Amino acid sequence: MNVHETKPGKAGGAAKQSATLTVDNKQVQLEVRSGSIGPDVIDVGNLYRQTGCFTYDPGFTSTANCRSAITFIDGDKGELLYRGYPIDQLAENTNFLAVCYLLLYGELPTNAEFIAFRRTITNHTMVHEQMTRFFTGYRRDAHPMAVMVGNVGALSSFYHDSTDINDQAQREVASHRMIAKMPTIAAMAYKYSLGQPFIYPRNDLDYTSNFLQMCFAVPSEPYLVNPVISRALDRIFILHADHEQNASTSTVRLAGSSGANPFACISAGIACLWGPAHGGANEAALNMLREIGTVERIPEFVKKAKDKSSGFRLMGFGHRVYKNYDPRAKVMQKTCHEVLDALGHRDDPLLKVALELERIALQDEYFIEKKLYPNIDFYSGITLRAMGFPIELFTVLFAVARTVGWIAQWKEMIEDPEQRIGRPRQLYIGPKRRDFPAA
Ligand code: CMC
Repeated sequence: MNVHETKPGKAGGAAKQSATLTVDNKQVQLEVRSGSIGPDVIDVGNLYRQTGCFTYDPGFTSTANCRSAITFIDGDKGELLYRGYPIDQLAENTNFLAVCYLLLYGELPTNAEFIAFRRTITNHTMVHEQMTRFFTGYRRDAHPMAVMVGNVGALSSFYHDSTDINDQAQREVASHRMIAKMPTIAAMAYKYSLGQPFIYPRNDLDYTSNFLQMCFAVPSEPYLVNPVISRALDRIFILHADHEQNASTSTVRLAGSSGANPFACISAGIACLWGPAHGGANEAALNMLREIGTVERIPEFVKKAKDKSSGFRLMGFGHRVYKNYDPRAKVMQKTCHEVLDALGHRDDPLLKVALELERIALQDEYFIEKKLYPNIDFYSGITLRAMGFPIELFTVLFAVARTVGWIAQWKEMIEDPEQRIGRPRQLYIGPKRRDFPAA
């Protein structure tokens, strides 16, 4: 295939060049679109009509499924931008709720906008009282992600006034409800697993402090939020807020493309996030560090990770897009040290194992050659555990933070005139047509 410079492009990812593809000696011209940054895309939307062929790309390694103005990743540089702002600058200088505003509306809020947004979100933190009955239907030992999938989907049975996706005002209310209620539902899932009473939201607290009190307060004694933990968790929420077209976000978009209501779509995203190759990796990474246990055992595990037949991978290492240090992992490592210092866990043996494992892996030919670096999940488990969260809740925390990304991407999709129902094609390899055997 050849790519040619031709006519100048229209804004917003329109044609700038064209590419020529030859199929069975027939040449077809394909539009090449340019974004504001990042690789150009070859528009193959008409390819089937022109050639009778589909493209084949399992795992979407070379396929853009949408245009988006929300998040940009340069995997080779190790750069992550939300609406143009580098993730480390946002983590350092602002708070999670302001980042929610940025992701939803495209700009950082002014003071007045922030106050109004915080008031709106705060007003939606409670869930319908009848929702408590859903919780009591689960086994106490249910994984909290199972409870999240069920209960977030169930929101659509309570909030009928925000399920009409064609109504801009309803879409807006659904977005606010989702951001506001997710911490409440997550904390309820945790409390239910402990057999403790649910703790209602406290609207005098900021978003993250309120979440901490819903998780850790009990009615019988006062609970004081530790500001170091609250700030660190808020930063962790910022790091997880969006990550362009990852598996769960693509799931939300695909579910939403059929016109499904936003609560159902986010529930689908939570189900996808649960997998150990995606959001479940923080849980898996901590389990792995525990299994390794001491620095002396690290070489044995590194050897196993390099042996394909073992089926073992270093959890918290590698990424589909980052072929450099994950910029979120850098902030996460710093946050991890801050939290462990503040809580007096500086000598946490798992931190020692993690630091040494990182050091060894980054010098190992296998990891260097395959460009496998620590990702965000490598240090998040140690940090969250030190904060007092049980391991089963790690992916739930990821879901709380990612909700704004899912909802911003869902809204963008609904409002994009180019979007249609998602309907991939296939390379069929089953039996050809055959007749049912005669009796
Ligand atoms: N340990 C050992 N080898 C690895 C690892 C690892 N963690 N990750 C990738 N490889 C090898 C893999 O065996 C393959 O080798 P080869 O080319 O010889 O076949 C090569 O590196 C490329 O791997 P891949 O599976 O083709 O890459 P992918 O882009 O499909 O997978 C990944 C990306 C994140 C699923 C994978 O790196 C992985 O399984 N990592 C561990 C799980 C993890 O930490 N996931 C969290 C991702 S970040 C949070 C999020 O965004 O959800």
